[in-house]
Amino acid sequence: MCPGQNLVLLLTSATLAALLEEREVHAVGGFEASRPLPSVLDPFGSSLQLRPAAAD
Ligand code: HEM
Repeated sequence: MCPGQNLVLLLTSATLAALLEEREVHAVGGFEASRPLPSVLDPFGSSLQLRPAAAD
């Protein structure tokens, strides 16, 4: 078992949280974010785009 597992999960969660403070994630290829996810997803055909978060 990897002893770095919790460190990686903590740092990844903190990184994503910091990113989502300032950016919105939009699907631009492969699937529609507004629809249910397909049962199979091709990671090579899927793209995500970061945009500045809309001001509240
Ligand atoms: C995405 C990041 C990481 C992945 C995917 C990963 C994956 C793995 C895997 C698959 C193993 C083998 C587990 C087994 O033999 O059953 C392993 C072992 C190990 N990992 Fe990681 N690891 C990651 C990050 C880290 C980090 C950040 C550290 C240290 C700070 C670390 C330290 C270790 C050590 C020391 C072992 C050997 C454990 C042993 O054989 O007793 N890993 N890791």
